[in-house]
Amino acid sequence: MRQAIAEAAVGDEQKREDPSVTALQERVAALLGQEAAVFLPTATMANQIALKLLGRPGDVLLAEETSHVLVYEYGGVAAHAGLVTRGLPGHAGRVTVAQVRDAAAPSTKAADQRATVLSLEDTHNNAGGRVWPLDELDEVTRAARELGLALHLDGARLLNAATAQGVEPAAVAARFDTVTLCLSKGLGCPLGALLAGSLDLIERAWREKHLFGGAMRQAGIVAAAGVYALDHHVDRLAEDHERARRLAGMLAAAGLPVEPEQVETNFVQLDLAPLGIERDEALARLRDAGIGLSATIHPRVLRAVTHLGVTDEDVERAGALVPRALGVPARAA
Ligand SMILES: Cc1ncc(COP(=O)(O)O)c(C=O)c1O
Repeated sequence: MRQAIAEAAVGDEQKREDPSVTALQERVAALLGQEAAVFLPTATMANQIALKLLGRPGDVLLAEETSHVLVYEYGGVAAHAGLVTRGLPGHAGRVTVAQVRDAAAPSTKAADQRATVLSLEDTHNNAGGRVWPLDELDEVTRAARELGLALHLDGARLLNAATAQGVEPAAVAARFDTVTLCLSKGLGCPLGALLAGSLDLIERAWREKHLFGGAMRQAGIVAAAGVYALDHHVDRLAEDHERARRLAGMLAAAGLPVEPEQVETNFVQLDLAPLGIERDEALARLRDAGIGLSATIHPRVLRAVTHLGVTDEDVERAGALVPRALGVPARAA
């Protein structure tokens, strides 16, 4: 990837003259089954631009209550788009047709604030990298369309979802009006994200990109990393998932509160509550043992992530060291 970055053909991206950016955008639009895509610095900006394009000030945005757009984007949808947010309690990061129908039910008053946009997340970060089964996604997106809702997919980790399901990314993404794809997570790029949608929406997104201060110059330096990642880092996502499953199995076998059947992609969630250890104490003990786990939105739940920097040996080491650090003696494999 460093080599691809060094050799990147570049131009003025603001003038749409950067060949590497253009190539990446075309590639991602096709991958997601959308007409066009625009390159952006972050997935947060992609989500924010999408939701600004899909809703008007005063409209209600529906999303699962722990979704990234609601809890980690600093109220950006209120600040940038003037949207009112309504979080729906989810199961494994997913919401149901009944929840969407209830939340979007037409008002009896002629002039009332009403839901106009539904944002879904796949894989769902705070649910532990869980994936939307396609039949459920079909039902919810079809109901949303019937209710006249615009649809956004926060697919920051969409390629993990598609890999886990063994489907083309477009099989998930094509049904949405706008789709965010992040390059800096499992794809391993230094930064960057894309927003995909119809030609009309993406043309309008270019204007928003400028307004957000996200219009760049020789951005091909980074876009070339994205093209490299699509060529070399997508097929290998299955290895991350396999390593996460292996790690979860080892931790569960050692007696830690981990549920391997919930590991669908590259996250392993570890519940500290039954161990009676506070989060900061657990993180400190793990750090001392040389293991980097992260905190989650749930105060007692830690997360391990497998990615292209994590090897089989790392998984073996973590599987042995985590139980020891948390005071659970390792059992013989
Ligand atoms: C589901 C989801 N969407 C969006 C983002 C934002 O990504 P970025 O850091 O590129 O803004 C994240 C980051 O963790 C995420 O998990």
